Amino acid sequence: MCGIIGITSNKPVSSAIISSLRKLEYRGYDSAGIATLSNGAINEIKSEGRVDNLEKNPLIKNMLGSVGIGHVRWATHGMPNTINAHPHSSETVSVVHNGIIENSTTLKKYLINKGHKFKSQTDTEVIVHLITEYLKENDLKNSILKMLKQLHGSFALGIIIKDQPDLIVGARRGSPLAVGYGLNENYLGSDSYALKSMTNKISYLSDGEFCIIKKNQVDFFDEIGNKVNKKVLELSSTEENYDKGEFKHFMAKEIEEQPITLKNCVKEYIDNINNDINIHNFPWKLYEINSVTLIGCGSAYNSCLTAKYWFEELTTLDVSVDVASEFRYRINRFKKDTLYIFVSQSGETADTYAALDLCNKNKMKTACIVNVIESSIARDSNFILPIHCGPEIGVASTKAFLGQLFVLYIMALKLAFLKKNITKDNYILKIKDLKQLPKLIKETLLNENKVRSAANTFAKAKGSMFLGRGTSYPIALEGALKLKELSYTHAEGYPAGEMKHGPLALIENGMPVVVLAPRDKYYSKIISNMQEVIARGAKVLLITNKSKDEVVSENIWETIEVENINDDLIPFLLTIPIQKLAYYTALKKGHDIDKPRNLAKSVTVE
Ligand code: AGP
Repeated sequence: MCGIIGITSNKPVSSAIISSLRKLEYRGYDSAGIATLSNGAINEIKSEGRVDNLEKNPLIKNMLGSVGIGHVRWATHGMPNTINAHPHSSETVSVVHNGIIENSTTLKKYLINKGHKFKSQTDTEVIVHLITEYLKENDLKNSILKMLKQLHGSFALGIIIKDQPDLIVGARRGSPLAVGYGLNENYLGSDSYALKSMTNKISYLSDGEFCIIKKNQVDFFDEIGNKVNKKVLELSSTEENYDKGEFKHFMAKEIEEQPITLKNCVKEYIDNINNDINIHNFPWKLYEINSVTLIGCGSAYNSCLTAKYWFEELTTLDVSVDVASEFRYRINRFKKDTLYIFVSQSGETADTYAALDLCNKNKMKTACIVNVIESSIARDSNFILPIHCGPEIGVASTKAFLGQLFVLYIMALKLAFLKKNITKDNYILKIKDLKQLPKLIKETLLNENKVRSAANTFAKAKGSMFLGRGTSYPIALEGALKLKELSYTHAEGYPAGEMKHGPLALIENGMPVVVLAPRDKYYSKIISNMQEVIARGAKVLLITNKSKDEVVSENIWETIEVENINDDLIPFLLTIPIQKLAYYTALKKGHDIDKPRNLAKSVTVE
């Protein structure tokens, strides 16, 4: 999860590289660096922390060179500091890298024996010395081929070479890499988002390919050095809104955008005339699908866990869920009649992509639910279901999570109807409720005072718990994840019925506990579980839905009531207060809300 940019042009490139690095910071922000070729030498400038720090270096503004590379880092090997920042350079070569070189220790020993001196603790530096070594006796293409053959692991590379001052080399295995086409200049970037401000014409490298980019020519090669032709895609030129507007943080904006993004989902997927769900060009016959496996990471995994209940309750399909990092190494029993669905906001998450790749290699049916339709996961799935949420910049996923829930729900509902697991009347009723969601979310968003004041307690707590049953259990997991990644304090999501099997011992006087208890079939059970934690001193923040019936329990610290909707859709509304709780807790603690420590928006390494 680092970001790479490269530009070869007929004019100086340093400022264009710096502005692209800003767009790439969502991929990592531990450190940043740039290298250009000018006057027969490599000029390298690097800094710890954000791109702002890099730009403060006085040498940047006079940096010459019409060929250059840049990098923002999320540390895998070696501390996040200036020495370990990319680019890494020798006298003759400079390299930026996203991924992990798994045999770097062995290669480092070999290169040190050859007399190479290492400066950093990174795995990346072996690439610099390897290609420097090969260039002594081979031409460029053969040096690249020899170097790639030696590397084990994943990489997206950008390389500039002192003696080849008009070109950039790019290479891809496992980590995404794109080429952009400009006027008298061409580009290399981790993804289209980094290149979008300069061009909307993009080609994507496939695994094993490398390219040689000049300002007026780009050549692609496969892993044995044969030339390959690449499709040039025209990106959607819809000017997407990448700024915060009047909001303090992208996360705040993206929480408040949810009524709009859900309205987009309704527009894209609900046929108002025929009261039907539009899932066009579904490539399989219904009888070919008897089970579904849902795969994702983080919040995307939590959306899959929520959907498991919907598939179970609405359809007769078998449904299983897995975290991608487990699925990819499990002894999987692949079945032809299973549909494998990959959920990923960025569409670049390495573990999710690897799980998809494994299914593709086993010739399975694959579909993906993504926000970025030009992403690797979208490109390599048999079928794409976009969530239409627009760019999600905040590292903590909010609107994309609700978008994922929406698309997963309509898939379950559509399959239930087509497989005649539900009646037409019930189908139409549920579609009608779906169309209420944007309005109800808008109303729920307004009801934030209690959450805002509760955040003061969570900001001081050394730990908290989130409890739920049924679909509220994965929402409890999501609430705990949001709080962890933003407040940096421990929070645990747990099935309420499980507390008595151990975690009840965690409860101590004054410990904040969120209990998600909509008035569904689990309500009375979870109210009893709530009383068990209150009896042991917990400060319970109860989140339920509006009802004329009073909540039968004493000593509840605070109660928040979300709007009413059918039980299937309650998870959408319960998610709003838990997102705001995490946001206001982090705000209270003065944390960097859009870029929490140690994290990145797109985890493109395993
Ligand atoms: C969510 O708040 C996290 N930032 C993280 O868990 C995220 O959901 C996960 O990394 C998956 O990302 P993806 O949806 O882009 O695949």
